[in-house]
Amino acid sequence: MHAVTLLKIAQIGEPVLRQIAEPVPAEEVKSEAIQTFIDDLIATMRDANGAGLAANQVFRPLRICAIEVSDNPRYPYKPKIPLTVLVNPVVTPLTKLTFDNYEGCLSVPNLRGLVPRYPHARVTGLDREGQPVDMEVKGLTAGTFQHELDHLDGRLFVDSVIDLASLCTWDAFARYHQADFAERARRVVDVWGG
Ligand code: NI
Repeated sequence: MHAVTLLKIAQIGEPVLRQIAEPVPAEEVKSEAIQTFIDDLIATMRDANGAGLAANQVFRPLRICAIEVSDNPRYPYKPKIPLTVLVNPVVTPLTKLTFDNYEGCLSVPNLRGLVPRYPHARVTGLDREGQPVDMEVKGLTAGTFQHELDHLDGRLFVDSVIDLASLCTWDAFARYHQADFAERARRVVDVWGG
């Protein structure tokens, strides 16, 4: 195991965040270069307390992302998600319903806003071994996956905020919105199981 390298996280305005990331050829997934990069991506996500991190957020426009929620101080109401690495992922909504998810992003410093997300979706792609993944994601967890996969298409959560009046700093979120949102988040988890 090599020593991991913490990678620099691109901030909004960096062109790489707006690039459509390139697919990784299946036969390259297990290469040392890609495996080392995935280890660094995971380490960087954990160091920054992210719920997820997409490769183009660390200046590598490849269709790779990592997602993990354990006890996350940035998102205390989020259900846990075991470490998931996705290569060339595709998300397909399994409902027409949406819920409003209060999102933030390591590439959008000190800003949160409400984004409509599908509470039930199918995610397909490859895992870090290059093996096929086919999973259903639900509730807040489904929102987390949609946020990360949007990055790979050059989209940031701010693009999807409908009510611009919902935009707020993290302090203002804690002061004015967190209690109400945590309650709504609990209902989403109750109904959708995620
Ligand atoms: Ni993000």
